[in-house]
Amino acid sequence: MDARDRALYDQAVAVASRAYAPYSRFHVGAAARARDGRVFLGVNVENAAYPLGLCAERSALARAVADGCRPGDLEAVAVTASPCGGCRQWLHELGVERVVYARAGGEVVTAAPAELLPDTFEL
Ligand code: THU
Repeated sequence: MDARDRALYDQAVAVASRAYAPYSRFHVGAAARARDGRVFLGVNVENAAYPLGLCAERSALARAVADGCRPGDLEAVAVTASPCGGCRQWLHELGVERVVYARAGGEVVTAAPAELLPDTFEL
């Protein structure tokens, strides 16, 4: 992994402490870097109605979209957990080039969304 992706992963680690996760107590941070250099941070945001909780990746990606990013604009997304299935579909939708994430054992690896979710649904 190059230094820029490592720095992006470090930003994801740093923001994880801002997660709102009173139910699982599992804090996740995410950082999405656009090709123009902007970085969008996200954390998981849980809710008493459990299924309404938001993952850190989707939180970061929604911020990027709200600030004008479109599919293909995001070069890398770093996340402090292994992306869940739904987040993998989001990473695919937005054409993220590569995902830097922590595997269950803690190892930090890089993968393309297509590797994380083959034969992805497309409308
Ligand atoms: N979580 C994420 O934020 N990202 C993932 O890809 C995996 C799961 C969050 C959701 C929930 O708030 C907590 O981790 C426990 O599942």
